[in-house]
Amino acid sequence: MLVAHTAAMTVPRFVQIHREDSAALRHELAQGLLVERAMVSPKFLYDALGSRLFEAITELPEYYPTRTERAIFDAHAAEMAAIAGRGRTLIDLGAGSCEKAARLFGALQPLRYVAVDISVEYLRQTLASLQRQHPQIEMVGVGADFSASLTLPPEVGRGERLLFYPGSSIGNFTPDEALRFLRQARAAGGAGSALLIGVDLVKDVETLERAYDDPLRVTAAFNLNLLRRLNALLGCDARVEDFEHVALFDVERSRIEMHLQARRALTLSWPGGQRRFAAGERIHTENSYKYTVEGFERLLREAGYARTRCWTDPQRWFAVFLAS
Ligand SMILES: C[S@@+](CC[C@H](N)C(=O)[O-])C[C@H]1O[C@@H](n2cnc3c(N)ncnc32)[C@H](O)[C@@H]1O
Repeated sequence: MLVAHTAAMTVPRFVQIHREDSAALRHELAQGLLVERAMVSPKFLYDALGSRLFEAITELPEYYPTRTERAIFDAHAAEMAAIAGRGRTLIDLGAGSCEKAARLFGALQPLRYVAVDISVEYLRQTLASLQRQHPQIEMVGVGADFSASLTLPPEVGRGERLLFYPGSSIGNFTPDEALRFLRQARAAGGAGSALLIGVDLVKDVETLERAYDDPLRVTAAFNLNLLRRLNALLGCDARVEDFEHVALFDVERSRIEMHLQARRALTLSWPGGQRRFAAGERIHTENSYKYTVEGFERLLREAGYARTRCWTDPQRWFAVFLAS
């Protein structure tokens, strides 16, 4: 088995299982713009530029999730690996820069690394560079949109699987969607699999809102980039300067909401449709749900994970769960 994969160890294999410019995506975008409270899925935030802007966000002092989660991994990777088991197929869901998984290679010693992401052009670059640094690990890139369902291609191979879902990306789903996704992850992992997942925790409103509305306006650029995506994918005529970035914590729903707010009354037009916005009207672009440790543990149990372990930072700002 290992001998047969030698050729794949300098250049990762890449499998594309979704179309980036499909009629279905255009339909999804148009439908979202036409509902009373216009909304666009956060998955559209990530093209090659969006992924780079997200990487810049992770460098910001206000964006605590990345460095807090990294510190938890750095402190507890050996214990996590001892429980999860070494030598597995590590499947990174929404891999982005692949940086978090790469930091765990030493502890987890994966036989195979599978990086899944919707932002295909960016993933191809990050994975190719990672493969050069780790020629001993077989790597597979998967271009996929797992928002509706998580399906893994046969190229993932057999062998015990550790699914990795860091960055609190689970928070982009509503709790009901998160439950469905966790069940799908359990099914996709198969018998004997485990899930290592990072979850952002509830904290004071000021810290939360600053993390999503930084003074350097990098998060604003990340959000506004969605308008360029609307233009490219839907043939829309949105002008970036006509909208502003808004990020608010909804205490009742325990979620940060990101919106694009019209600076003036305007109409967005695209082939086959148009939508009028009053000044101040918004397009809802992202939710980021914040959990308690107990609340997320409940969700994992409901999804069928019987055993869970949890690590947090000293401030209890972020949690990493290992579930099997
Ligand atoms: C918040 S970033 C996290 C990146 C990285 N895992 C980290 O923790 O820093 C979310 C990642 O998930 C990817 N993503 C978002 N929606 C997706 C979807 N529906 N299907 C596949 N990947 C998706 C994005 O392209 C991005 O790389």
